[in-house]
Amino acid sequence: MSKAIVIESFGSPDGMKFTEVLVSDPKANEVQIKHSAIEVNYIDVYHREGRYPLSNDSKVPGVSAVGYISKVGDGVNGFREGDRVAYITPNGGAYSQVRNINANFIFAVPESVTDKIAASSIVRGLTAHALAHRVFIVRSGVAVLIHAAAGGVGKILAQWCNHLGAYVIGTVGSDEKKQIALENGCHQVINYNAEDLIAKVVEYTKGLKVNAVYDSIGRSTFDRSLDCLMNMGIMVLYGSSSGDVDTVDCKKIASKSLFFTRPSVFHYKGNRFELILSANELFSNIAKGVIKIPDPEVLQLEKAALAHEKLQNRKLANSIVLIP
Ligand SMILES: NC(=O)c1ccc[n+]([C@@H]2O[C@H](COP(=O)([O-])OP(=O)(O)OC[C@H]3O[C@@H](n4cnc5c(N)ncnc54)[C@H](OP(=O)(O)O)[C@@H]3O)[C@@H](O)[C@H]2O)c1
Repeated sequence: MSKAIVIESFGSPDGMKFTEVLVSDPKANEVQIKHSAIEVNYIDVYHREGRYPLSNDSKVPGVSAVGYISKVGDGVNGFREGDRVAYITPNGGAYSQVRNINANFIFAVPESVTDKIAASSIVRGLTAHALAHRVFIVRSGVAVLIHAAAGGVGKILAQWCNHLGAYVIGTVGSDEKKQIALENGCHQVINYNAEDLIAKVVEYTKGLKVNAVYDSIGRSTFDRSLDCLMNMGIMVLYGSSSGDVDTVDCKKIASKSLFFTRPSVFHYKGNRFELILSANELFSNIAKGVIKIPDPEVLQLEKAALAHEKLQNRKLANSIVLIP
């Protein structure tokens, strides 16, 4: 048996209950992991609300965590009991003490990165990797606009883009968050609730506008984001913290020959070799100090509902990890 957070009813955080679940021995190609730190991601909120289904109909949220292998199923190569690993999976199940998982999703964590730092940067860091290296190739001389630049993905992405030589403009929802964004890779920061976003982007880019917009906010920023792009720019809508964008106006895309994409980290990191390569690049950048991950806020696993409330009320300076 293991204790886990189970979604008993979709909607508010109190629909999640801390309860006992059965964990059998791992099947072929699976390992059993005893979690040491569990990442809390915005996608867990979407799963809890029922906006997006967990892909294997699991009732246990959580798509990423760090832990130690406690049992190894038949056919698993390259891992053994006691190994410290992390994983990312679209299938949920991370909000638990112990779980089984297909070994294809797991990768080693270097000693230089602590459980808590690793657990606060798995989905966020791999997403930033995909956004900066795969969806659009960030390089010297390009200008990017990153929304929610003081947030979890935003901080990592802004540091990564800065490291790759881009001119980085970040946005935040309140003046208090401006300094956080400036300390995490942004050259300029705009408060999108108080300032004229498009006018500021025009000013900061001397009229050129940006090559790429990374928009995780969705409904409330999408139209303004399109207006911040230069001709042939790319609109990367990778989240919907303020609500879904239901339709995209092709005329607006055509008016500047724009590119539009709605990427998912699970697609970009679904290939095993890509996953290992990206995780190595992420952890090596963390170890070298290229990407600084602040100590996360730590809550006990049974406080998952509180973690969701904190994430949704936008007051968090750092990410949250759950400790079983
Ligand atoms: N596509 C993918 O594969 C992928 C992977 C990982 C994450 N994501 C998405 O990336 C986004 C960021 O994830 P995260 O975990 O790093 O979260 P986060 O950025 O730490 O938190 C979300 C931030 O969005 C801003 N926001 C604006 N309007 C909001 C609203 N109505 N409600 C809540 N927040 C609002 C807030 O920043 P301000 O206060 O500064 O406005 C808030 O801090 C999420 O939308 C998530 O779903 C997508």
